[in-house]
Amino acid sequence: MAVKRVGVIGFPVEHSLSPVMHNAAFAALGMTDWHYDAMSIPPDILRLGLREPKNHGYIGINVTVPHKEAIMQYVRPDEKARAIGAVNTVDFRNNIGTNTDADGLINDLLANDVLIKGERILVLGAGGAARAAVYGLLREGANVAIVNRTKSRADKLAAQLRASAGLTGAQVMTLDQAADWGMSLIVNCTSVGLHPHIKQSPWIHGLPFPEGVTVYDMVYRPANTALMQQCVAHGGRAIGGLGMLARQGAVAFELWTGVEPPIDVMIGVLQAELEQAPKD
Ligand code: ATR
Repeated sequence: MAVKRVGVIGFPVEHSLSPVMHNAAFAALGMTDWHYDAMSIPPDILRLGLREPKNHGYIGINVTVPHKEAIMQYVRPDEKARAIGAVNTVDFRNNIGTNTDADGLINDLLANDVLIKGERILVLGAGGAARAAVYGLLREGANVAIVNRTKSRADKLAAQLRASAGLTGAQVMTLDQAADWGMSLIVNCTSVGLHPHIKQSPWIHGLPFPEGVTVYDMVYRPANTALMQQCVAHGGRAIGGLGMLARQGAVAFELWTGVEPPIDVMIGVLQAELEQAPKD
């Protein structure tokens, strides 16, 4: 039985949780002919490095830091990848590159019964993760405000989404302005609060935290971030980003295999991995 291979390329990639997540899903479904592995490819040989899995019969790959933007020149980016400006999933059968981050976030918000359409939603951050979030939220009909430490990056993000996807609904604010805006949901797309800086929050000290909002924190290590704790202390509901990690992977899994993966298995194995991770 020929092995059907998929995997992830990145640099470094050793700490990626994707192999264990996808291989657990293959095992749970009895798909013993499928295997997912991690390939470390330095940026200077990306083009060559991309050819290797393709020549060795890989069906597709995930793409992670630092290759998500650079890889766009070697594949055919679809509408989502062009709008988000990055590819995180490639199907070698047609050489199409897509981006599953926006779907991962939206699917996880919907799975948690979080309202999106017509809601005021604050996105914190203006990097690649924020661009995927703003794209996904605008497509779902939300009113989006972007706040970023470096305002010029937020302006650029809003302009890029206008140019790449014709999406005009995002406004750039300061955090002070956003605090009075009346949003129902805050999505943290910054790296603030990520292990080991677990005491830090993107909601700056001294500014009153809005009461009763929902926080979705893309940071999943630790599972309960400082921002999530602030939210709950102010009568809100907090959701960590592990589900998004699983669901962006699930979209890729289904694209390659045509099979819907067991999302509970994927989330469970991620939780187990993170609980085991050294607390350094
Ligand atoms: P990614 O592609 O994963 O989104 P990124 O492009 O490095 O990563 O973006 C990181 C985000 O976290 C940015 O919005 C960054 O703010 P700046 O644009 O001002 O750099 C934000 N961020 C990181 N550290 C921060 C900190 N200490 N305080 C506030 N924002 C921070």
